[in-house]
Amino acid sequence: MAENLSIAVSTKKEERYEMLLPQIESLVAGEPDAVANLSNIAAALKQTFNFFWVGFYLVKENELVLGPFQGPIACTRIGLGKGVCGTSWKEKRTIIVPNVDEFPGHIACSSDSKSEIVLPAYKNGRVLLVLDVDSDKLNDFDETDALYLERLIKVIESFT
Ligand code: SME
Repeated sequence: MAENLSIAVSTKKEERYEMLLPQIESLVAGEPDAVANLSNIAAALKQTFNFFWVGFYLVKENELVLGPFQGPIACTRIGLGKGVCGTSWKEKRTIIVPNVDEFPGHIACSSDSKSEIVLPAYKNGRVLLVLDVDSDKLNDFDETDALYLERLIKVIESFT
C-alpha cells in the first residue's frame, strides 16, 4: 500500500479526481475491512480537497449512524427522510445543496458548513451507506463532483 497520496496542489478539480481515484483503488485493494477502507477514503478526500467535513453514515436498523469521517464532530443519528443525508437515502439519489440554509430540514452539525453533496451506495439494491461531503464555501459542488464521487461510490460498492 502506498503511504502517501500524490496530488498536485494547483491542478483543477477534474485533474485532482483523476489522480485520486486510481490511488484510492490501490489503497483499498487487498484490504477486506470496510471500516478501514472507508476511513482511508474519508482521509484521502479531505487531504486532496481540504473539504470542511467528509464522512459516511451507515444504515443500521433503519437509521443512519455516523461512520468513519474526517472533520469536526458530527451528529450521530439521522432518520429516513431527515436532512440531506436522510433524503438521499430515502430518495436513492445524489443530492447537491449549493446553500444549506435553503434546503428544507437541513441538519446543521456545524454552522460553518455552507454547501454539501450526499451520495448513496447500494448493496443488493438497498442503500448501505451515504457519503456526505461538506464545504465551508457556498456553491462548492457541481456535476463534476457528482460524476467523480459516483465513480468513487462504485469502488466503495466493490468492497462493502
Ligand atoms: N448536514 C447533514 C448532516 C450531517 S453533517 O453535515 C456532517 C444533513 O442535513 O443530513
